Order: sequence, then C-alpha cells, then structure tokens
Amino acid sequence: MAFGLIGFMGAGKSNAARELAAALAAECYDSDAVLQERFGHSVAEEFARGGEAAFRAAEERVVCELLASAGSDAVIALGGGSVLSEQVRAALAAHVTVLLDVPVERCWERVGSASEDGEPRPLAHDREAFARLYAERAELYERLADAVIVQPPRGAVARAAGALRALARTRGARLLWASASAGQYPVFIAPALLSDPASLERVWPLAKGSRRFLVSDTNVAPLYAPRLGGCAAAVTIAAGEEHKTVASAQRIWGELLAARMTRADHVVGLGGGVVGDLAGFCAGTYQRGVPVVHVPTTLVAQVDSAYGGKTGVDLPEAKNYVGIYHQPAGVIVDPEALATLPAAELAAGWVEVLKTALIAGGSLWHAVAAGAEVDERMILACVRTKLTVVSADERDAGVRQVLNLGHTVGHAIEASAGYGTYRHGEAVGLGLLATLRLSGQEELREHVRTLLVEHGLPVTLAHAAPERVLETIAHDKKRMGAEVPFVLMSAPGEVSHGCAVAQGELRAAVRELSA
Ligand SMILES: NC(=O)c1ccc[n+]([C@@H]2O[C@H](COP(=O)([O-])OP(=O)(O)OC[C@H]3O[C@@H](n4cnc5c(N)ncnc54)[C@H](O)[C@@H]3O)[C@@H](O)[C@H]2O)c1
Repeated sequence: MAFGLIGFMGAGKSNAARELAAALAAECYDSDAVLQERFGHSVAEEFARGGEAAFRAAEERVVCELLASAGSDAVIALGGGSVLSEQVRAALAAHVTVLLDVPVERCWERVGSASEDGEPRPLAHDREAFARLYAERAELYERLADAVIVQPPRGAVARAAGALRALARTRGARLLWASASAGQYPVFIAPALLSDPASLERVWPLAKGSRRFLVSDTNVAPLYAPRLGGCAAAVTIAAGEEHKTVASAQRIWGELLAARMTRADHVVGLGGGVVGDLAGFCAGTYQRGVPVVHVPTTLVAQVDSAYGGKTGVDLPEAKNYVGIYHQPAGVIVDPEALATLPAAELAAGWVEVLKTALIAGGSLWHAVAAGAEVDERMILACVRTKLTVVSADERDAGVRQVLNLGHTVGHAIEASAGYGTYRHGEAVGLGLLATLRLSGQEELREHVRTLLVEHGLPVTLAHAAPERVLETIAHDKKRMGAEVPFVLMSAPGEVSHGCAVAQGELRAAVRELSA
C-alpha cells in the first residue's frame, strides 16, 4: 500500500512527499515531475499547447501508472486536479490518501501570479478564480482523504510518518494530524476501535518503559476501561459537571502520586468533556506536566473538548475558571462508544456539532441545517474545523475565540443554574439563541430554535433567573477591563470575535430566553 498525497496546488505536496518518503525510507514520485519529463517541457507549456483536457488525460495515465506500480510505503505526490478523474479516484482507493490541508492564502502565496516562485501554474493567474477553484475542490479532497494533515507546519508530514504507517495497517480508520506550537499529535477515528485490541495497539502503541494511568468516571469506567487493557492504575471520579472541581483534581494528583506515576508515563482521559478537562488539567500540572491521551466517549468530547488543549476545573462562581493549556499526545475516537450514551446526552452533545457548523459554514452547515444524522464524516468535519481554528491561535488570543460562540451566555447559565442542572450542550443551545439575537440574525435564530426543538433541547430558560445569569456573565474569564467581548455572527461561516455588546441588548437577549 502506497501513500498518495493530494491537495490544492501550492499546498506543498512535492516537498511533503520527499520528506515523508525519507522518514519512511521509501521511494518517492511526483506526478507533475514525471509529466514534465515526458512532455519535455513544463506543465504550463503543455496547457498552452494542448489545453486542459489533453493535459488531464495525460495526467490520469501517469497517476494511474504510478499508483499501479508503487511499492509498499512508496509516496506519490499527485497533481492537484488529478483527483477529478474517476479512474484516479478508483486507483487511490487501494492506497492511503493523505490530504495536505493548507489555507488558500498560503497556497496562493506559493503559486499565485504574484509569486516570485518562478513560472505561475496554469490555473493560478487570478486570485478570485483561484479561491473559487479551491472552494470547489475542498469537498472532493475531504471525501477522498484517509488522513488529513491539518494546517501543516514545516516537517509535519514527516512527523506523521509513524501514524500514517499505523493507519495503513488499520482497516476503516482515519487520521487527522494536529499541529500546535506545543506539539503535534494524531487523532485516530475508527468505528469499533475500542472493541479491537489489535487495531488499538497499532494506532496507540505503548512506548517501552511507559505506563498508562487511567482517569475516568463512574459511568464510563465499567463500560470501556477493560477494553483499554493494561493500565498501571485507575482513578474513577463521580460522574457529572458538579465533580469538575479542584477537589477532584486533588484526588487525582494524590492517586497518581500514590501509584508512583512518573514523567515517562502518561495519563489516559477516558470519558466525556468533564473527564477530559480534569484528566488534561491533572496531567498538565502533575510533576509540571506529563502527557495525556484522550479517549472521548461523548459527542461533546468527540467533536470538541478532546482537542485543542484547553483543560481545567470549575469554581462555584464560574465555569472553567482555573485551568491550563495542555495539548494531548493523542486522541482515540470510537464513534461506536456513543451507542451507550443516554439519548439526552447525545442530544446535548449535538449542540457542539451545531455550534461548529455555524462557525464552519459550507457543507457542514448545510448538512446540519438539513437535519443530517451525526456520523463519522460529520465528526471528522467538526474535528477538522476545531483543529484548523486552534492551529491559527492556540491560546485564545484572537481567532480561537470564535469557538466560544454561544458559550459566554451558555457558561453563565450553567453556573447560575447550579452545575449539573443544565447539561453543557443544553446551556450552549440557549446561549446560541441569545447570540443570534445579539447578532441581529432573526431568521437564522428561528432556524436554530427549530433544530433545537427537533432534538428535544430546551429553548427557554427555566432553571436560572436571567438577572443571575447576567451577573455571572460579568465574571466571565474573557472579560477585558469593563467589557466582556462577545462572539457574534453575520451568517453561517462568518463569525467575529471581540465584539462589544450594549448592556441593554444583552439584558433583553437573556431575559427573552425565560419569556
Ligand atoms: N476543553 C474544551 O475545549 C471543552 C470544549 C467543550 C466542552 N468542554 C467541557 O466538557 C464538559 C461537558 O462534556 P460532556 O457533555 O461530555 O459531559 P460529561 O463528561 O459530564 O458526560 C456526560 C455524561 O455522560 C456519561 N458518559 C460519557 N460517555 C458515556 C458513554 N459512552 N456511555 C454512557 N455514558 C457516558 C458521563 O458519565 C456523564 O454522566 C463541560 O464541562 C464543558 O465545559 C470542554
């Protein structure tokens, strides 16, 4: 099985292929280079001489030849448009398809007509047309990819080599490779991964001399802990948001110490967002930081909380008030674990899918807006959206704040109603309604309201006084001076952070929830 690198022109496929091949000690091919050699002139000249259709036919032949003859582990960089061919797509199915997911601006910088990088590509003369083509191809690339290297910094593909090799040997699995300044990590997603010890061992091998220390809760541990096999010690906390506290963290630190955990070992957070936030926080602070691997078992955790490194605990006065950034060393996602999740938790978790779709816009929003079922593809799209945002702003200094859409009011509702009264997603759903009112998006608010009702989620605030919610918002940890900045939106996919909101409008948007 070979690795086919796909992605838009300018994504850096040729360099990445060379780096990956070197890391795998395997052969490397570049379809554009092979074509150029065969033409005896550049791809641009071939386009000018014979037109795009003739070029695509030649490209299809070459790519299919390369894919048919490639040895095991060989790496092939495919021309950006080659996957438009059905034959190429069929040939790729026998291999591991790796998408280099690079933002359009970076691609344009590399190959656009303004580039100093030699001759511009035939389809890179006009910036707007370039961006349109990028958007048109995005869904096709996403559909084909077995692995996505999300916003790769230099060298990321080579660092992903081991994970890509594991992916090649694991049927039905997909990989997202996440990059943050604090580290890079694999996210493996596969149905039944937790029921298949051999696959689990392949994607999550235990380094020699390292041991696993499990943190889970009373609901999840009996269901899934036995499937993880050999953990050196296990700490089980009582389930529920009310237990995401400093007291629980203290208990976990104490038990890790008692079990003699060292920095050579790692914590495993098995459970929903509560366990993940606590396990990540304890891992990031125990001995000033040991690695954590998340095994998320709720929809909230599988689409959102397991990624991006935000960890922490609640204070009675305000949610997530004490915490640190601690990126995971890996995330293992088995969507089948959602089968045991109570329906109300699944519905509440769906609100994070809705939030992500509102942020992402495009095909994810269209699917969610049309009421599509949550499946592995939707989970992947949510994770990719989150990883993309986090890679641009790991520490919430700017664009990452968009992920808080609906959360300023949502968190205040959770805290003022008393933790555990509203599920996180239920409170965020109400927060989204308030946010859409503040954004002046009446039609979208109505659509979101209908979707929440269809999922059996609350659309009125019954368990907290609006005045208390407003007081709690004033404590929000995002407050800068006197102002709490809000995330507002003008359309799905068009979200702004750091927005000022008039006190009167905020009061009206929150009071309206309880009407
Ligand atoms: N760190 C982040 O970036 C981030 C993002 C979003 C949310 N969060 C946090 O996540 C938390 C909410 O997460 P949550 O909704 O997963 O809540 P949760 O962890 O409390 O899980 C919900 C319930 O489902 C149970 N459960 C979990 N998996 C199960 C399974 N597979 N089968 C049966 N029962 C199962 C749990 O025991 C719990 O009772 C909040 O504290 C929120 O602040 C963090």
